[in-house]
Amino acid sequence: MAYRIQEDRLGAAFDCAADDAVLRAGLRAGLPLAYECNAGGCGTCKFELLEGEIADLWPAAPGLSERDRGRRRHLACQSRPTSDCRIRMIGRGEADAAPLPARLDATLEAVADLTHDMREFRFRTARPASFLPGQYALLSLPGLASMRAYSMSNVANEEGEWHFIVRRVRGGAATSVLFDLRPGTCAVLDGPYGRAYLRAATARNVVCIAGGSGLSPMIGIARGLDRLGPQHGGSFDFFYGGRSADDICGEAMLRDLPRLGNRLRFHPIVSGEDSRWAGRTGLVHELVADLPPETFSHADFYLAGPPPMAEAVVSLLARGRSVPAERIHYDRFF
Ligand SMILES: Cc1cc2nc3c(=O)[nH]c(=O)nc-3n(C[C@H](O)[C@H](O)[C@H](O)COP(=O)(O)OP(=O)(O)OC[C@H]3O[C@@H](n4cnc5c(N)ncnc54)[C@H](O)[C@@H]3O)c2cc1C
Ligand code: FES
Repeated sequence: MAYRIQEDRLGAAFDCAADDAVLRAGLRAGLPLAYECNAGGCGTCKFELLEGEIADLWPAAPGLSERDRGRRRHLACQSRPTSDCRIRMIGRGEADAAPLPARLDATLEAVADLTHDMREFRFRTARPASFLPGQYALLSLPGLASMRAYSMSNVANEEGEWHFIVRRVRGGAATSVLFDLRPGTCAVLDGPYGRAYLRAATARNVVCIAGGSGLSPMIGIARGLDRLGPQHGGSFDFFYGGRSADDICGEAMLRDLPRLGNRLRFHPIVSGEDSRWAGRTGLVHELVADLPPETFSHADFYLAGPPPMAEAVVSLLARGRSVPAERIHYDRFF
């Protein structure tokens, strides 16, 4: 069963299955709707409900304020229609070059530990894995009512492989289930989503900045650059921030990429006191600030991680170093 959604800002209509969310159905129909996290955290996908009824998937989602709720505003990523609806998106979205998202059955094929709390999960779908480097998918895990977003660390492939690097969150509802899954388990994968993907035609230098679990999409961007080969002749700086020496990983995966060669510079930094760590200490944006001035005027910046880290880096780049918004691409991990 599907409902008809009329969206007044774009003047377009689309069908939304009764078990789908308004945002994802609109994106599946190819509409350039405004969104970022797909997880109820950022508030980018707000809309006003003009006619009809919806069910809220997460009534307490932090992306919506009490004032919004009083004005019949909802989050499109957390809204399921229960009738035909007329809505008006608040923000303006942008058209993108990514494949349209689809819901696919996936099987967990393999897992591998990277650190004490980071693990790579390899899922396979029957259809080719079609996405741009740096994008994410939503995983529906057995026994869990709500989906979670995870970014792909690999690149598109005919074999249907989707790789995710995930950090275990102590007491986390989804990661507790995910880290207990055995290969062979089935899940539903919905994607790809996200607009912080590698701009393929770039001849400019590239800087990737990851904090904690933000490693996965930045490794995906690096693998995408490697696949571009000589089409990308610029330098490549990769910053990774962790809390302790035990958290630092990723360099071996980057050094494995044959075409990046000596264009790659890896810059790790640890924020906590750790007597075993001989490198730089502090927050990742403090290390980024030391890049030479010409990098800020010429490079494309990609970043991923927790909202405070993303906000500190974006503030440094946009306000501190005057990097224009079209050269900064990021996902905040709510
Ligand atoms: C775009 C994006 C990409 C991400 N990529 C990665 C990645 O590559 N690797 C990685 O380790 N993590 C990633 N994350 C974080 C990941 O989605 C989870 O938030 C994280 O794994 C913790 O989940 P948890 O359920 O274990 O923790 P919990 O603390 O139980 O839940 C954390 C998050 O789940 C969501 N949530 C909580 N309750 C509900 C509810 N009732 N309904 C809907 N949502 C709810 C909220 O966003 C909350 O912040 C990404 C997040 C986003 C938004
Ligand atoms: S995209 Fe809906 S709250 Fe972030």
